Amino acid sequence: LRVLSVASEAVPLVKTGGLADVVGALPAALAPHGVETTTLLPGYPAVLAALRRARAVHAWDSLLGTPARLLAGTLEGRHPLLVLDAPALYAREGAPYTDSAGRDWADNWQRFAALGRAAADLAGGAMARRGKPQRFDLVHAHDWQAALACVYLRYAPLGGIRVPSVITIHNIAFQGWFGAEVFPRLGLPDAAWTIDGVEYHGGVGMLKGGLANADAVTTVSPTYAREIRSPAFGMGLEGLVVARGNAVHGILNGIDTQVWNPVADATLTARYGHRTLEKRRANKRALEAEFELAEEDGPLFVVITRLTWQKGMDVLCEVLDHLAGLGGRLALLGSGDGGIERELLAGAARHPGRIAVRLGYDEALSHRMQAGGDAILIPSRFEPCGLTQLYGLAYGCLPVVARTGGLADTVIDANPAALAAGCATGVQFDGVTYDSLAAAITRTIALYRQPAVWQRIQKNAMKCDFSWAASGKAYADLYAALTA
Ligand code: ADP
Ligand code: GLC
Repeated sequence: LRVLSVASEAVPLVKTGGLADVVGALPAALAPHGVETTTLLPGYPAVLAALRRARAVHAWDSLLGTPARLLAGTLEGRHPLLVLDAPALYAREGAPYTDSAGRDWADNWQRFAALGRAAADLAGGAMARRGKPQRFDLVHAHDWQAALACVYLRYAPLGGIRVPSVITIHNIAFQGWFGAEVFPRLGLPDAAWTIDGVEYHGGVGMLKGGLANADAVTTVSPTYAREIRSPAFGMGLEGLVVARGNAVHGILNGIDTQVWNPVADATLTARYGHRTLEKRRANKRALEAEFELAEEDGPLFVVITRLTWQKGMDVLCEVLDHLAGLGGRLALLGSGDGGIERELLAGAARHPGRIAVRLGYDEALSHRMQAGGDAILIPSRFEPCGLTQLYGLAYGCLPVVARTGGLADTVIDANPAALAAGCATGVQFDGVTYDSLAAAITRTIALYRQPAVWQRIQKNAMKCDFSWAASGKAYADLYAALTA
């Protein structure tokens, strides 16, 4: 089966969040199940720079009004990669979705509509090799940036060829909504300007259009698949999610166990496994030194995240004094909301040696933090899947998580029953408030002060299987059902 996976990010080429980890890992996850995945990405400068020996394999004189060509390369030297090189849309300094000042690019509608149009053209056989059209059996679109692929395949397929599509919602909070004036420029028939097409609250809803027109909809955990049926989580799209009924599936993300494996992780001071937990101490000492924290045996919490309301970082700011007052320490790595950044720096200034903040994005440091921290705090208000708790489990950095979305599905709370059964892997709490987070921190520190209990939980966590084995098969089964 040949699948075209369409997204705006993929590791190791371009990443702003977990979407990139998942898109980058899918080809290897699917290969054992007979699926050949070709990944289609926008030609941002960083992506073009990483393409070695790229060949131009197709060209559009006008792709929604701009010239574009398609370059073929490989992802991680193994999996087929196609890059949409459209300089008018992507050749600019800044982040994938925003300029250097953090403002959305004004032409984002065109940048990502073009990605969707290109995907639909490719699925229909626009690209030829030795005179033969190269088709794909299925298109898998990720998030709003790729969602229009599903709409073009439905309303304006190349050569009328019907190729099925899947859309994965990694975060329903980001919907890609644009004013009605962009509709005429999308090259869609008038029939798409309806409740069944892209029309949404008088404008163009890209995620909405994908959700309505994909043959199947997936999201990245079973709990989130249920949650987005309700107004509290569906962000206005709950009615459509409910209407899609059994076409909506919750498939948990896996982690790339080649990249996230404490036994073989070259970024660590000391490598370790669940039988050599005592070696974590060297990583903890190194982390304390790196963050200029007091060197002591007490619990060391870490946070690695985008600094946003979704991630509950405003509430984290409120509990800093509580955490430090109980003898805890915190090393935080993140960037995002300016107000939250200032609050965090103020907290660090109030508690020198106990709370330390690193603003920015640092992949290698994030590994060292998972290996040196005792527990990772994840107080998300909603979390479609979440990857940092999975990395925490794998590294024995116990996740302390809000009971929502994928966090609820992947961490077993150390409640009395789970402790008695010997299966706890972390701490869960309900509701992202000062009281609930403070209580979870108190409870975590109490567990930490019982070394035998703590080590048992760490071992349970590290033995969990969060590889892609099960979920790779789930996607492959879904593709098979749609192409049968
Ligand atoms: P989301 O995609 O909503 O941000 P996830 O937990 O799914 O949340 O994925 C976040 C990914 O980004 C993880 O791989 C995490 O380690 C990484 N990450 C987040 N912030 C940083 C940072 N400041 N430095 C390094 N890695 C980060
Ligand atoms: C989104 C979600 C996150 C999920 C990631 C990958 O960014 O916020 O929960 O893990 O996508 O699916």
